[in-house]
Amino acid sequence: MSKKYQITCLPGDGIGPEIVEATKVVLNAVAAKFGFILQFNDYAFGGAGIDKYGNPYADEVRNAVLNCDAVFLGSVGGPKWDNAEVRPEAGLLAMRKSLDVFANVRPLQVVGALTAHSPLKKEIAEGVDLVIVRELSSGAYFGTPRHLNETDALDSITYTQEEIDRVVHYAFQMAEKRRKKLCSVDKANVLASSKLWRKRVLAIAEKYPSVEISHEYVDAMAMHLITRPKDFDVIVTENLFGDILSDEASVLGGSLGVLPSASFNSKGPFLYEPAHGSAPDIAGRGIANPIATMLSGAMMLRYSFSENEAADLIEAKIAEMMQENRLTVDLNRENPLTTNAFTAELIKKIETR
Ligand SMILES: NC(=O)c1ccc[n+]([C@@H]2O[C@H](COP(=O)([O-])OP(=O)(O)OC[C@H]3O[C@@H](n4cnc5c(N)ncnc54)[C@H](O)[C@@H]3O)[C@@H](O)[C@H]2O)c1
Repeated sequence: MSKKYQITCLPGDGIGPEIVEATKVVLNAVAAKFGFILQFNDYAFGGAGIDKYGNPYADEVRNAVLNCDAVFLGSVGGPKWDNAEVRPEAGLLAMRKSLDVFANVRPLQVVGALTAHSPLKKEIAEGVDLVIVRELSSGAYFGTPRHLNETDALDSITYTQEEIDRVVHYAFQMAEKRRKKLCSVDKANVLASSKLWRKRVLAIAEKYPSVEISHEYVDAMAMHLITRPKDFDVIVTENLFGDILSDEASVLGGSLGVLPSASFNSKGPFLYEPAHGSAPDIAGRGIANPIATMLSGAMMLRYSFSENEAADLIEAKIAEMMQENRLTVDLNRENPLTTNAFTAELIKKIETR
């Protein structure tokens, strides 16, 4: 009997359905090759959830999210719902919270053809190989009290020791398996939450003597990421800083369309999604770059299903597409492939490996 994995699939809005559909084709192709079955169970989520259920994260969807082997998401949001009572993005935050995913992992490598697309000089960008570990379940996006009045507004950044410790341990363990360098980013010269963050990182560092630890303030880190990105291996930071820094890092490779992500909790199911949004400006035109979503799919095969060979094959063949500059318009203006043409060429490579 072939192994069968149940995936709760949330295509979402904008380019989400297009890039998820393309990714399903690729994942099913490797599944057939390696003899396992992926059962995708699709649900309306985000803006599509508002249209179908009047709720971006309906109870039926929540139930499916909490009872599966992995959750696979496209992206949510768009101008259609900008004035909705509850916005699609609120569904995303609620979904992450319900899964209690606390570590969002975004790996970034600038290799091959991507170097030429980087906004940075070749000698600065080439060879960047870093991972951002962003705390995902607490901080400014969830903190209370909060309010918005006519003439004043309040947000709160809250962190407990436990919330900091679990993501920091996760980042140290990841650094141990990589180049053994961890950079913790905070604003400990000003913010109370950052002072606690730094204190806990220093305490936890003693348990990981093989990892070289450094600390940067977030404002300095914003500069280092574009002046010396190769100096970094694993970067760990709190939710708001991680949101901003990971978007900054994502364009080092020339396009937001290539950055995957995985979000982990203590016992699964884990969540996989591209780092970019729903790109309403290009939705429906068949030109979206599916690489970030496909690489998120590869991460799902590796981290949720331990189908490592299948994950390796997807990553290797996408790297070949990059080397050969067989890419969508965000990365190849002269001779672009559509989303479907990219997918078809990739499938051909996978099938004739
Ligand atoms: N996780 C998510 O679902 C998520 C994340 C960020 C933003 N959003 C939402 O997405 C909507 C649009 O937000 P935004 O414009 O700030 O960010 P975005 O990431 O959707 O787009 C930013 C720019 O990058 C381009 N881009 C993004 N992904 C691409 C891809 N795969 N291929 C080619 N080009 C790509 C877009 O065309 C756009 O020019 C908003 O409603 C926002 O709230 C959702």
